[in-house]
Amino acid sequence: MDRNLSMELVRVTEAAALAAGRWMGRGKKEEADDAATQAMRKMFNSIRISGTVVIGEGEMDEAPMLYIGEQVGTGDGAEVDIAVDPIDGTNIVAAGTWDALAIIAVAEKGNLLHAPDMYMEKIATGPEAVGKIDINASVIDNLKAVAKAKNKNINDLVVAILDRERHENMIQEIRDAGARIKLMQAGDVAAAINTAFKNTGVDMMLGSGGAPEGVLAAAALKSLGGEFQGKLLPQTREEEIRLNKMGITDFNKVLFMDDIVKGDDAYFVATGVTNGELLKGVHYNGNTGTTHSVVMRAKTGTIRFIDGQHSLKDK
Ligand code: FBP
Repeated sequence: MDRNLSMELVRVTEAAALAAGRWMGRGKKEEADDAATQAMRKMFNSIRISGTVVIGEGEMDEAPMLYIGEQVGTGDGAEVDIAVDPIDGTNIVAAGTWDALAIIAVAEKGNLLHAPDMYMEKIATGPEAVGKIDINASVIDNLKAVAKAKNKNINDLVVAILDRERHENMIQEIRDAGARIKLMQAGDVAAAINTAFKNTGVDMMLGSGGAPEGVLAAAALKSLGGEFQGKLLPQTREEEIRLNKMGITDFNKVLFMDDIVKGDDAYFVATGVTNGELLKGVHYNGNTGTTHSVVMRAKTGTIRFIDGQHSLKDK
């Protein structure tokens, strides 16, 4: 893929964040998601690509979607697979809290896992502990492995995990081991990425969340030299049938980064909607809006942080 695509792609997440940021704290998550989706679609359609959304918003979210199978772009450029999450953390935007992102990942056609909108068990960590984690191992064994790889004590570690009833046992195990926890209300893509940035203080992300968010996190960690493993978690017979149709019959199969994002020609792009540990959110001042984004390219491992100042006149 053309390396200049990265600047085009950041416009997409910037547009989504600028549109969604207006809904911060207003208690209307669907309106925020809708604004981000419309802005994302419009900007995508100005880019010279022939893109297919392979991961979009699905049944888990009732908001208007950039749906799976939707064609985006001008249609006369490179054929690419696209994963979108116009807002990861619609509840965060509605509440005006921490770490909502507008996110896309783009890879050569056929290279992104066609992840259905179901749950996925996940484990993620940064570069220092690559090759040491194992989604099938116990919580304590993963904590020991990451602590050893990072030359830390277990009680120095911070594990990010969604604050959900289904994670009760896992949270207890982490606490019993003496590690520290960052409980999140939403937004596990940001949490997974944070494991690769020392300044966030997050060492590992554990727990289940959306499978599409897992694909996005894997695309980022591939560029960041970290590690992500996932296991799809069908909850119903219907979800099992959907997986069978996709050729997935072994539900215990561990999906490694190369299963999720094939090859290394992939981009991950995110813009902060609300302030977070890695990215600032959108700030407005009269006719100006500022954005903070990150663009990652797996092929080269280049990570760019981009501050944008946008004139909002006529917008
Ligand atoms: P939305 O973007 O749809 O609000 O989802 C946010 C999120 O927290 C994801 O980051 C996470 O993967 C998933 O929801 C977890 O699902 P659930 O809220 O059902 O536990």
